[in-house]
Amino acid sequence: MAHPRTSAHAALITGGTSGIGEAFARALPTTTNLLLTGRDEAALARLAGDLGEERRVETVTADLATEDGLEAVCRAAERFSIDLLVCNAGMGPFGDVLSTPEEDLRATVSVNVMAPLVLTRRLLPSMITRAEADARRAGLIVVSSNTAFLPVPRLAVYAASKAFDLSLTEALAAELTGRPIDILALCPTATRTQFAPRSGYGSNLPGAQEPGHVARRALAALGRQRTLVLGPVTGTVLTGPALVRAAVAQTLQALVPRR
Ligand SMILES: NC(=O)c1ccc[n+]([C@@H]2O[C@H](COP(=O)([O-])OP(=O)(O)OC[C@H]3O[C@@H](n4cnc5c(N)ncnc54)[C@H](OP(=O)(O)O)[C@@H]3O)[C@@H](O)[C@H]2O)c1
Repeated sequence: MAHPRTSAHAALITGGTSGIGEAFARALPTTTNLLLTGRDEAALARLAGDLGEERRVETVTADLATEDGLEAVCRAAERFSIDLLVCNAGMGPFGDVLSTPEEDLRATVSVNVMAPLVLTRRLLPSMITRAEADARRAGLIVVSSNTAFLPVPRLAVYAASKAFDLSLTEALAAELTGRPIDILALCPTATRTQFAPRSGYGSNLPGAQEPGHVARRALAALGRQRTLVLGPVTGTVLTGPALVRAAVAQTLQALVPRR
């Protein structure tokens, strides 16, 4: 079987301007055209320059916390005829729920919950149709987090949003069993990116993983497993629960009647 990582024609990576998203863009082979999104126009231009010599790279500057931004990304992805969707953009303000501005909590839900939900709902049907027509496989990677498995004080809304991402992706993978699409929920632990400084937490945790490692492991896992928990300790501790969750989703897929 051709490896999904090397067979994607065109990938949308949300949050491609830094960290894990940028690492996905750099890890994909030059045979994969790239549609990169984020708010940082200068970073998008730099990446298009770096990665665009041997393939097509397009960028969309858009804020996924807004309806207009999400619509712009959906439209661009439809035009780009993607066969790999990487829902990676994410944010998470650090602090107690009651002392975090409501606006920041709303933005977290928009970027981490609504954007992956709308992108998958909107883009997967045509990705699957194209894959069927071309006798190929499409791919979906949703970047969740270790925090999806736990309630996390001071990252409560973030952790809840990542639990949504994990649950949605697991159920979607079960619903789409037998269709030509590989689906992976990616649950990394602390990774050395802009996330910790941007969240207000401060510097990266000692021992944080490199984003390139996370992206390469995810691309290698796509098509081989449905959930990838990555981290020195949690990778071992949470892999069992992840396997149980996937098996439960698959069982429920057979048991819950279709309406
Ligand atoms: N770093 C970790 O420890 C860790 C662990 C587990 C999971 N994750 C997840 O990994 C994903 C990537 O995060 P990262 O660690 O690579 O952090 P990062 O370096 O801060 O990257 C976050 C990306 O999301 C984009 N983004 C954030 N808010 C956005 C908005 N409103 N509209 C559009 N794009 C937006 C950013 O682009 P712009 O700034 O250009 O808008 C940036 O490209 C996130 O989903 C995060 O939850 C991270």
